[in-house]
Amino acid sequence: MKFYQCKGSCVGCKSYKVSVPGSLMLFGEHAVLYGKQAVVAAINHYIHVELIPSRDRNIRIISSEFGEHVVRFNKFNITSPYDYVLTAIKQYLGRIDCGFLLRIRSEFPPNIGFGSSAAVTVATLGVLAIWLEGETPSLVSLYKQAVKVVRLVHGIGSGADVAASVFGGIIAYRMKPLKIEKLNNVSLPLVAVYSGSKIPTFEVVSRVEKKYVQFPTVFADLYNAMGLCAKKAIIAIKKNNLMCVGDLMNIHQGLQDALGVNNATLAELIFELRIQSNIFGAKISGAGMGDCIVGVGKIIADVFPQNNAQQKLGVKQIDVVVSDRGFNYETF
Ligand code: MEV
Repeated sequence: MKFYQCKGSCVGCKSYKVSVPGSLMLFGEHAVLYGKQAVVAAINHYIHVELIPSRDRNIRIISSEFGEHVVRFNKFNITSPYDYVLTAIKQYLGRIDCGFLLRIRSEFPPNIGFGSSAAVTVATLGVLAIWLEGETPSLVSLYKQAVKVVRLVHGIGSGADVAASVFGGIIAYRMKPLKIEKLNNVSLPLVAVYSGSKIPTFEVVSRVEKKYVQFPTVFADLYNAMGLCAKKAIIAIKKNNLMCVGDLMNIHQGLQDALGVNNATLAELIFELRIQSNIFGAKISGAGMGDCIVGVGKIIADVFPQNNAQQKLGVKQIDVVVSDRGFNYETF
């Protein structure tokens, strides 16, 4: 059997381990898809991917969330729930000559709005590049490749979550024309609360787009205002003005509500989070109609869920810290 001739590190030699942070959208959801400014943060909840070359023609994927899945080279097809991973592998298929095991361990569930699809895509592409090319890929090329994969699977995607997972930290992001600025030497205390439910992002985006078609001038103004909030938030974050960031989050939340992506649980959680001492503002994070809310500031104790109904829904307070680290090759 012919094996891939890698640079001294093929079957049996070693395994390759990478980790990639999840992310939270802070400003510019939906508007970013129309070229407006957004802000996204990498967070200290990571996806770990290990690649171990094997002496067969099988690609075995084992994940903490979805169990085991085996694909043979000659019968390569892309199936859920591994569509991001398999589409990422497909980009390298012509260059892979032996099988491998891909072990995926996520520190967070895929359905809470921490950008797991983006993170696992970045991790898979990154570990394959290291294995096949013998060196860590450039972060810009990793970002571009991962955005391509996310759009192949998803149809849409601003790439903001990909940028946070690749570069880490707090990212000022614009999709078109592309601009990625990592805000260095800033600190932003964040709190996330999972609302207990999720509607897939593409579904929420498509609902919002239908409304855009119905009210194009109104939605254009809403997106402009969201972009302005994001721009002002970038200045406030750079100045460490948490009060201002919080005010802008509250304004932005009003605009997200106007888009139609709020629901009763999210609204309740946002108001409950806003009245906590040391919280400066709160809003939906991500597409909306579910997932998480995010607040700026700190709450010392666990205050969510606040009642039995929230507990039943699966509401959960999650401690998050901005991760300065993005894509990381874990050398031994
Ligand atoms: C989803 O987290 C944020 C959206 O703006 C979609 C995207 O940026 O790809 C709704």
